[in-house]
Amino acid sequence: MTIHEQLRAARERLVAAGIPPVEAVLDAELLARHALGWDRVALVARLPDPAPDGFPEAYAPLVARRSAREPLAYIIGVQEFWGRPFHVGPGVLIPRPETELIVEEALGWAGTRAPGADGVRVLDIGTGSGCLAITLALELTGARVGATDVSGAALAIARTNAERLGATVDFQPGACLAACAGPFDLIVSNPPYVAAPAHAGLAPEVREHEPVTALVAGEDGLDVIREIVGGAAPAMARGGRLLVEVGHDQAAAVTKILADAEGLRLLCIREDLQGIPRVAVIASTRPGTGSPG
Ligand SMILES: C[S@@+](CC[C@H](N)C(=O)[O-])C[C@H]1O[C@@H](n2cnc3c(N)ncnc32)[C@H](O)[C@@H]1O
Repeated sequence: MTIHEQLRAARERLVAAGIPPVEAVLDAELLARHALGWDRVALVARLPDPAPDGFPEAYAPLVARRSAREPLAYIIGVQEFWGRPFHVGPGVLIPRPETELIVEEALGWAGTRAPGADGVRVLDIGTGSGCLAITLALELTGARVGATDVSGAALAIARTNAERLGATVDFQPGACLAACAGPFDLIVSNPPYVAAPAHAGLAPEVREHEPVTALVAGEDGLDVIREIVGGAAPAMARGGRLLVEVGHDQAAAVTKILADAEGLRLLCIREDLQGIPRVAVIASTRPGTGSPG
């Protein structure tokens, strides 16, 4: 069989497993490249060649795992976020592209700070793979970045990612703001926000493979968001920002939670590329501690 024929057979198997055809083409190719250790140019150039020795044996188990609806990122062990490769595996949420909106908003906000202001103090709540904390540590010169998570498995992966990517982040186990006192100029979080009853309806890749603690936050999905909003104000420096990712249908509920929150003001909920309100941009309204931002 040629490499092309192997890829076509894999694609058919993935489609039969319920993976949408466009995604199946891409996944069959990425799994082949992973098995061969080739880049896309090499793969495309050699598609008509007979499959190299050992390829079918290496490729088949990868395709079988994907057919069982294991996420591609867990199989190849990596997911790109803000242009950098993050190691991922069972026990940690796979970074999503919409979460990059938090980075975009954070960098834009940091650019408005007074010239000469000290390095920004950042906290990432629910760091998972460390994608937000590490990206901000690498993108914001002089930033001092801390990160928390209730999951020891996630923190272990986040520490590995920080080391591999050359970022300095203070990772602390703990729930929300319990592990870190502040003051922080910037608090970011992509918390769990799926309502418990909705978990059963998620795609098999998410429902059966990604950690429930990274996804579900109580009956209405808002438990952790409430906890963050409830504790953030005293931990924020004057002029501080809180950026929180929210679920596709939570804009109204989050607006209500913020309307009742002391010391915080919701500025807007930024939309993602699909037009879904995705990142709540929140300002500290009390004097707080620390230097003005
Ligand atoms: C949706 S994942 C986000 C991971 C990562 N920040 C990202 O964007 O890919 C939520 C993370 O929050 C953690 N978590 C859940 N409840 C928490 C809590 N009460 N306090 C801190 N972290 C929590 C989970 O273990 C998980 O790693």
